[in-house]
Amino acid sequence: MAAIPPSEAADDWWRSAAIYQVYVRSFADADGDGTGDLAGVRSRLPYLVELGVDALWFTPWYLSPLADGGYDVADYRSIDPAFGTLGEAEKLIAEARELGIRTIVDIVPNHVSDQHAWFRAALAAGPGSPERELFHFRPGRGEHGELAPNDWPSQFAGSTWTRVDDGEWYLHLFAPEQPDLNWAHPVVREEHENVLRFWFERGVAGVRIDSAALLTKADGLPDFVEGRDPHPYIDQDEIHDIYRSWRAVADEYDGVFVGEVWLPDSERFARYLRPDELHTAFNFNFLSCPWDAARLRTAVEETLAEHAPVGAPATWVLCNHDVTRTVTRYGRRETGFDFAAKVFGTPTDLGLGTRRARAAALLSLALPGSVYLYQGEELGLPEVEIPLHRIQDPMHFRSGGTDPGRDGCRVPLPWSAEPPAVEPWLPQPDGWTGYAAELQAEEPDSMLSLYRAALGLRRTEAGFGDGPLTWLPAADGVLAFARSEGLICVVNLAGEPAVLPGHSHTLLSSGPLDGGGRLPQDTAVWLRA
Ligand code: GLC
Repeated sequence: MAAIPPSEAADDWWRSAAIYQVYVRSFADADGDGTGDLAGVRSRLPYLVELGVDALWFTPWYLSPLADGGYDVADYRSIDPAFGTLGEAEKLIAEARELGIRTIVDIVPNHVSDQHAWFRAALAAGPGSPERELFHFRPGRGEHGELAPNDWPSQFAGSTWTRVDDGEWYLHLFAPEQPDLNWAHPVVREEHENVLRFWFERGVAGVRIDSAALLTKADGLPDFVEGRDPHPYIDQDEIHDIYRSWRAVADEYDGVFVGEVWLPDSERFARYLRPDELHTAFNFNFLSCPWDAARLRTAVEETLAEHAPVGAPATWVLCNHDVTRTVTRYGRRETGFDFAAKVFGTPTDLGLGTRRARAAALLSLALPGSVYLYQGEELGLPEVEIPLHRIQDPMHFRSGGTDPGRDGCRVPLPWSAEPPAVEPWLPQPDGWTGYAAELQAEEPDSMLSLYRAALGLRRTEAGFGDGPLTWLPAADGVLAFARSEGLICVVNLAGEPAVLPGHSHTLLSSGPLDGGGRLPQDTAVWLRA
């Protein structure tokens, strides 16, 4: 059994944790059918212990037709048979906990699958039925109800309304296979509190809340008017009441929340983190920041400033299952477009992207708060251009084929130098086995070795994780800050090598220093003063 990490005893483990995101379908395939599964995760727990993470966040593993990679849940109380059984999930949660690793599950409260029992009952019961009140069913506009009830655009492009055979329309902010729930209905609230209890009782330590700011809709579902405040479905004031009740449930179990809250307004964002609401929320401003010292510094400062008044720790994320993988993003020389967006055929320099991603790893792991890694980030995997006929993401189809969708960051992990015997559900490109975990484990300069060393230091050095940060004087294009216990992080994004602070020694660097002991461009270092 692995050493119990220092965070083990503390109830506030989540303030400093390193959390690893597992996209089960693409993590590890134990039964050799081309799709990852829970047996695969269990077999790789030793790898995760060696990597040095404190918790695993599992993207939805519940019964699902997989119309949106599992974010279309048909039953929250069962595991999709492609992944395993509820019994195996319970074993996995317990085995991980024995090894000092906590589990976070993903709850998708905004919508369910169109195969969920509630939605099937609502379709069968017809207009005016109590079953339909759990969703947003409406008659259409126009002489014959042929026009959608309002003009809301979908998060996945296209309309948010689909018409059913009896003439009514139902609302779906995402794909038609993901009908939105009516959060004004007490049964919807009660059911979700029961689902939270169901998973907390199975030993999970936390819950990630999908699309957390979208649940409540303005009364009467008014048309969208550009610039009108409040927005008819993003960040409605009523939503906080839901999270206050959830917090009371979590507190019974010492459970914690991380909300997926994409909001540009930092004051509105911080409301979700008030002491009786969510413990943490993802910080997407840092993720969407280009590789630019001034902009990264501003993102860090703004993040810390917005969290301070509510006493919540920040979170740092460089990638996830929805955005372009880090080495590809940082390898794009032009930075004028939305940095995390998926773009067909953008020229990238993977050598440059990898150097920067290594430096970004040391930067994000040195910042105050908790940090999320997305599976494969520790292997330095690039984004994959998926052949058109193999794309599965609904985002691609709903964009009319203009957006490549998110499959390029969801390609199954390469574990071994041998290609898998069975073709995985998404194709692995040529050369993918060159990134294999088993090869990188033996290679001291690999991305995997860098992550292991950094996570190891983060665990043994009390100055990392939540706590104060002090900026140090530095040349233009250089980020330098001190944490407590004499720890210093310097990241050089400038065109010339940077001189490091005197009277310090190097704990870890993302690449070699130059002959004069200076820090080259696109390199980061951890020092002790
Ligand atoms: C979140 C998920 C994304 C999913 C969407 C709808 O943004 O991260 O993968 O498609 O919600 O549930």
